[in-house]
Amino acid sequence: MCGIVGYIGTEDAREIIISGLTRLEYRGYDSAGIALYGSESKTFNIYKDKGRVAHLESITDFSYKSCLGIGHTRWATHGVPNQANSHPHTSEESRFFIVHNGVIDNYKELKSELLTENKFYSDTDTEVIAHLIEKFSFEMNVDEAIRKTMSLLEGSYALAIIDTKDESKLYACKNKSPLLLGIGDKGIIVASDLMALVGYSKEYIPLKDKTFVEISGNDYKILDIIGKVVKHEVKVIDVDYTNIEKGEYAHFMLKEISEQPSVIRTIITKYFDGEEVILNGKVKEALEESDRLYIIAAGTSMNAGSVGRELFEKMAGIPTEVHIASEFAYNMPLLSKKPLFIFISQSGETADLRAVLVNVKAKGYRTLTITNVKTSTLAREADYFVEIHAGPEIAVASTKAYTAQIAILAILAYGLSDKHINLRKELSKVAISIENVIDRREYIETLVKEYLTKRNCFYIGRGIDYYACLESSLKLKEISYIQTEGFAAGELKHGTIALIEEDTPVIAIISQRDISKNTRSNLNEVKSRGAKTLVISTKGVHEHDDQIVLDDVYELFSPLLTIIPAQFIAYYAALHRGYDIDKPRNLAKSVTVE
Ligand code: M6R
Repeated sequence: MCGIVGYIGTEDAREIIISGLTRLEYRGYDSAGIALYGSESKTFNIYKDKGRVAHLESITDFSYKSCLGIGHTRWATHGVPNQANSHPHTSEESRFFIVHNGVIDNYKELKSELLTENKFYSDTDTEVIAHLIEKFSFEMNVDEAIRKTMSLLEGSYALAIIDTKDESKLYACKNKSPLLLGIGDKGIIVASDLMALVGYSKEYIPLKDKTFVEISGNDYKILDIIGKVVKHEVKVIDVDYTNIEKGEYAHFMLKEISEQPSVIRTIITKYFDGEEVILNGKVKEALEESDRLYIIAAGTSMNAGSVGRELFEKMAGIPTEVHIASEFAYNMPLLSKKPLFIFISQSGETADLRAVLVNVKAKGYRTLTITNVKTSTLAREADYFVEIHAGPEIAVASTKAYTAQIAILAILAYGLSDKHINLRKELSKVAISIENVIDRREYIETLVKEYLTKRNCFYIGRGIDYYACLESSLKLKEISYIQTEGFAAGELKHGTIALIEEDTPVIAIISQRDISKNTRSNLNEVKSRGAKTLVISTKGVHEHDDQIVLDDVYELFSPLLTIIPAQFIAYYAALHRGYDIDKPRNLAKSVTVE
């Protein structure tokens, strides 16, 4: 959450930073700001406000040359989104300008113990950092002052820092929050994500935790907190971000929903040789050698993980647990003797997952990351990683990453199974069936107008359909703001059914032969209490008045298909309410704070 970009060099800092912030806006978009050094006027200026990067662009003065600057796009953690709380923040005497991604857990203590005389202008934790650096700069060199400040900070930070007394330098440092150094011919960039570097840098360095960087011209020093040189790896930027335009689509979410058949086909080409699954030998070995899998994830990725558990247990017979990363990090259950930790994350940057990864690696357990971003922190830091090949997912609401994650989990589970199905054929069938739903999206839109008329809505299902309900309701709530939950259909009568009123929308997902009758009974129970019911079913279990009937696919793969109408339901519900579909309120695409 929050995106930072800093630049020093001979090119136009403003252009590089604004374009970087635009690409990082998925990390947070409630405020944006930039600090620039005017090479001719020899002055520093800050432009910042509540609102999007486009607004920042409109309030930034473009009339002067600038070769040094730092910028920020914010997802508020401390203090409401307003101009005062927007970054960059300054030190008390305005010597230091800083932008920050992360959360400083001990900022109150630092304020009350070390900065009692200082006057603060924002409600942020970040301002404390600027004040501390300035305080220490009276007694030591700037680099030492920053490193001393780092040694006092508890929590997560990626920082870009300008010292207004020395425009020949840009400083940066990090702990837990991601930060990369982009090396170009005409300057150096620091940024939260590779996306901000593409086009300006050919190589990059992923910075390690608790490292500090001093950049002057095209030269950089990477040190640890005590000033010792840190070894680093220079990597070539070989990612393709050409596919990040909406094209003919009104929204990225609509584009990404529509891309799901081709994502599944891409996965087939990447992971099959004929009918045979190709798995990295070490990944296969790690899976085979473990006595229990622990899937760690958040949000949509966790919902994919729940489907993954069914796949691992039912196809491969491996006991599997799924855990919410933020819970697992600080409340670990008793583990089996040979666990394998599987981290599922679209972005590969989710802080809750990284907290677990660091913890279990320190205990010597093996780790595997399944992610869409091969250059991400979780991909780099786990023992093994598997790429989902969904292509850049821009809409905050995750769609194609979910189906790609499940397809990959199916491939992993199949690789360990007795191969009783033809997986390639089954996945190809799913891709065709998804296309059939996409073709009927206008019909789904009419259903949305008819059924999604209330402030609330329930999804109900059993077994693997229940997991699809959890993801369906997450999609609906995050972009349409309709209050919705996914419920295990049989559990309703134990309390939740009390919420059913006349015309409460209840959507049932029914795809499993052995339990479809039970879900139907639960559906009748809510109908008898006035609910307006809508059924998403598959051909093998459908009834004549079901509103959305999907093709039959291999039953364990049904979430790959039943989620598609649910994604459209969410999309159209948000569209008709006039909401910002790709950037819903209060959310961010990459959740880099715990
Ligand atoms: O990047 P990750 O998959 O680790 O992100 C986890 C969640 O933040 C994410 O899935 C979130 O729930 C999505 N916005 C849901 O659409």
